[in-house]
Amino acid sequence: MKNYKLLTPGPLTTTDSVKEVMMFDYCTWDDDYKVITQQIRKNLLNLAHVSEDEYTAVLMQGSGTFGVESVISSVIPEDGTLLLLSNGAYGERIAKMCDYHKISCIHITQDYDKTPDAKKAEEALKSHPEITHVAMIHSETTSGILNDIKSIGELADKYGKIFIVDAMSSFAGVDIPMKDWHISFLISSANKCIQGVPGFSFIIANRQLLLESKGRARSLSLDLYDQWAGMEKDGKWRYTSPTHVVRAFAQAMKELEEEGGIPARHARYQHNMDTLVKNFEELGFRLYVDKSWQGPIIATFLYPEGKQIDFKDMYAYIKERGYAIYPGKLTDMDTFRIGVIGEIYEEDIQKLTDIMKSYLETLN
Ligand SMILES: Cc1ncc(COP(=O)(O)O)c(C=O)c1O
Repeated sequence: MKNYKLLTPGPLTTTDSVKEVMMFDYCTWDDDYKVITQQIRKNLLNLAHVSEDEYTAVLMQGSGTFGVESVISSVIPEDGTLLLLSNGAYGERIAKMCDYHKISCIHITQDYDKTPDAKKAEEALKSHPEITHVAMIHSETTSGILNDIKSIGELADKYGKIFIVDAMSSFAGVDIPMKDWHISFLISSANKCIQGVPGFSFIIANRQLLLESKGRARSLSLDLYDQWAGMEKDGKWRYTSPTHVVRAFAQAMKELEEEGGIPARHARYQHNMDTLVKNFEELGFRLYVDKSWQGPIIATFLYPEGKQIDFKDMYAYIKERGYAIYPGKLTDMDTFRIGVIGEIYEEDIQKLTDIMKSYLETLN
């Protein structure tokens, strides 16, 4: 099979050095391996600008959804109520989790191209004192919009609510000072902006609130407290850990630091995005999200007016020339998406632009 780079929001293109460290089969209870888990947990706290006294990190087998579901199903008590602010498919997935676990949920939806409305959120907080938790998505990968979690965090704090953020596609690509933004639980995964490979998600949690959640879990394998309690002892995972993925993640964290940490990674992604938007607008594509809300992770584009484009045909043309792009996720509009995270540089965006230009010419 011909190789290609991923212009998708994770799994993403990783470095050869990240892939190479997976050529070793670690023993799960060996100290050398357990130390890797502990170091990762420590580093995650540093990336979130929080201290070990107040926060702690838990690694959870499975993809990002497993991490989100672990938090939702483990920390909200039986008599608790979640205020969910959604503007895309990943927010809606949290509502589905609440349905499955029979968790009381007040769900305020927003158009996919607009950020959740703080005024409506405040009205709900005022009129529903039974709300205990507030949840929202940071980078809504459905559209590429970057939601204002800081403002909602301030609101949650003002009303004494526990704030849960799904920062799946943004953590480490966008700086998130967790404590300053009043976030108590944050979820992301190995194959996003830290640039590891898929296999586990991670949760950064307020230590006290995590301790208080003991016994609340509605699922054995997703029991957040129990997963933490095992790991906290000596770094041993409760059940089989994805050893190769964990080792690759440690390497990816090292490379993030070598690149210059989150500020440098964010600058590279933002430059990729700015270049992409500028180039694609010149080709006649339009951004779905207003530029002021567009995040640096993934962009949704509308096709040029009057052009009939078959996504599958366009995808095959671009893949043949070295890049895999992403279909749209909007139900009411014909769109496609380009992710700019991973080992992707301006040169890749320029190459993609040339490929897209030549594809459009084949349609004339
Ligand atoms: C914001 C957000 N939340 C949740 C998920 C679900 O993650 P996964 O597909 O790894 O289960 C994704 C996936 O891209 C995402 O972007």
